[in-house]
Amino acid sequence: MASLDISSIKRDFPILSRKIRENNRLVYLDSGATSQKPNSVLDAERDFYTQHNAAAHRGAHQLAEEATELYEGAREKVASFIGADVDEVIFTKSATESINAIAYSMGNAQSGSRFHISRGDRIVVSEMEHHANLIPWQELARRTGAELVWFKVTDDGRLDLTNLSELINSRTKIVALTHQSNVLGTINPLEDIVKRTHEVGALFVLDACQSVPHYKVNVKSLDIDFIAFSGHKMLGPTGVGILWGRKELLDEMPPFLTGGSMIETVTMESATYLDAPKRFEAGVPNMAQAVGLGAAVDYLSAIGLDVIHSHETELTRAAISGLRTIAGLTIIGPTDMTLRGGVVSFAIEGIHPHDLGQALDSYGIAVRTGHHCAWPLMRRFKTVATTRASFYLYNDLDDVNALVDGVERARKYFVER
Ligand code: ALA
Repeated sequence: MASLDISSIKRDFPILSRKIRENNRLVYLDSGATSQKPNSVLDAERDFYTQHNAAAHRGAHQLAEEATELYEGAREKVASFIGADVDEVIFTKSATESINAIAYSMGNAQSGSRFHISRGDRIVVSEMEHHANLIPWQELARRTGAELVWFKVTDDGRLDLTNLSELINSRTKIVALTHQSNVLGTINPLEDIVKRTHEVGALFVLDACQSVPHYKVNVKSLDIDFIAFSGHKMLGPTGVGILWGRKELLDEMPPFLTGGSMIETVTMESATYLDAPKRFEAGVPNMAQAVGLGAAVDYLSAIGLDVIHSHETELTRAAISGLRTIAGLTIIGPTDMTLRGGVVSFAIEGIHPHDLGQALDSYGIAVRTGHHCAWPLMRRFKTVATTRASFYLYNDLDDVNALVDGVERARKYFVER
């Protein structure tokens, strides 16, 4: 497999040449929260505003035509990136909005629709969901009287599938799971879960925020019904997310946001709606952000997700092996590389993660500390916070070594002084 030319990749990301806290090289290990942006993405957004800015799908002038072409061109790029049909790809504001759109629509669906959910029905999630894939389902359960149940997590950070068939039962309407945990790094085995979901006639939603940016995800071969992910975690701008759904489902699903651009006919009393994707894109769309995301897809595709994934695997393996040499340090999540992606959470006896994060920051190393928007998972591991390093294509072994050295230096400072 080809390896990455990291020095050249780093040059594509202007922020990576910044100095941090006086004169430290920036070691950015927080891509799980948000990724940095290459020049091509920044240029695409700027080019949109300086050369083509107009409201897509409105206006009879050249700029409106160009804006429409660019916006729809971005949709084609995203569709091909995830193996979807182009009219199944919906631009939202964020992955959070994408998941809320499904949950809200289910709450609004009429009886008889396969989206309808009511008292006695079941929603299945897991203990390792981040809040974006938990709270919308809690709210749906609260509004409809449906029951919210969840897969537990094993001590080594995997989904506990021992009661798969009881959990996903004939009353189940929806199963919503993360593809890769943003805390543990665990990549969930989907095949049996999706199969069982469909056996009972339920729908499967995949939260792919931590997977689509890092390795090949093909919505058709996974046989899922919906996927949600965000642009900003995959080198794209903030303010753009993706909701993909199977076309026949999208055409049946009640819209989430209503207004201009999503209507077919309107009278003073009522309106009829367009088919997907427009049915779910009310208002003037987030065109510049979508175009920026299209440039991000081009950037990732030119390098190749297989190469990116194997690079991240190498970094993660090195990070886990280096961190394990540090006294009192525990990795939270699987350490077997076949079960995980490039997110590593850990705790060190005697040091609060926030203190550790602050010490690392003072050396120029950016990690995330806290509950990672996954409180139930923190409780599962009897902690309130962890320190998390997350890797991407612009990181290298120097960054991993800086992390391991930085953690050891902080440990000596806090524990041995
Ligand atoms: N997904 C966000 C993170 O893991 C919450 O940082």
